[in-house]
Amino acid sequence: MTLIEAIAARHSVRQYLDKPIDATTVDAIRACIDECNAASGLHMQLVTNERTAFASGLARYGRFRGVSNYIVLAGRRGHESDELMGYYGEKVVLLMQTLGLNSCWVGLTFKDVRGAYTLDEGEKMRLVIACGHGASQGVPHRQRHTWEDFVVNHTGLPLPEWFIAGVQAAEQAPTAIHQQKFEFEWLGDEKVVARRRMALNSYTYIDLGIAKLHFEIATNEMRLQQLGDVPLLKMI
Ligand SMILES: Cc1cc2nc3c(=O)[nH]c(=O)nc-3n(C[C@H](O)[C@H](O)[C@H](O)COP(=O)(O)O)c2cc1C
Repeated sequence: MTLIEAIAARHSVRQYLDKPIDATTVDAIRACIDECNAASGLHMQLVTNERTAFASGLARYGRFRGVSNYIVLAGRRGHESDELMGYYGEKVVLLMQTLGLNSCWVGLTFKDVRGAYTLDEGEKMRLVIACGHGASQGVPHRQRHTWEDFVVNHTGLPLPEWFIAGVQAAEQAPTAIHQQKFEFEWLGDEKVVARRRMALNSYTYIDLGIAKLHFEIATNEMRLQQLGDVPLLKMI
């Protein structure tokens, strides 16, 4: 499965089978996390065989069942850190999808189990990503918008196909409460700016980081196909 295929196949999964993640897959996830932490300064950690975080009434209220593995997203406080968590956390999510696992970002409906992970000076745990063998593959989220709703273009020129492909991939990104509060502006040539839109939740910068990664993957795939050996777009 390619990353583009993983973007299309990924849907939030909240119910998991009682089946451990095999050692080779755990190693691959940890290697990806190590790379992402080195690139970002974040402190993401995979926690395996830990059932208490999703055993409380809160998790049941959130319709989570059978979660025994999750990725802790920890780092410094602030908007910049949030965007990095979205971007790099989603890198791990998409890798897991290519490895046959399922996932769900979780901001609220879990219990913070101190001792299951470590924090360095000045770090805070922000949220987690439940993961493992899903009881199903989930379902595509409701389409509340068309891809044009996420676009700003004041150039008077038609949008390049690679830009459209990027926005369509961003539309498939997971966002808190499915709010999708982001937009991509094309400024001509290779110039793109992504921004969050105002929303009534504290995860908009995380959502923006996730959407930026989806955009970058699809855009660069199309630029490679259409334009060959061109510099790739980097959104973060
Ligand atoms: C930052 C963030 C926080 C989220 N928090 C929760 C949560 O606390 N509980 C939950 O059930 N889903 C949570 N989700 C999952 C969203 O509800 C889900 O991504 C959205 O409904 C779109 O569905 P999809 O992921 O299947 O495309 C969260 C997603 C993100 C990106």
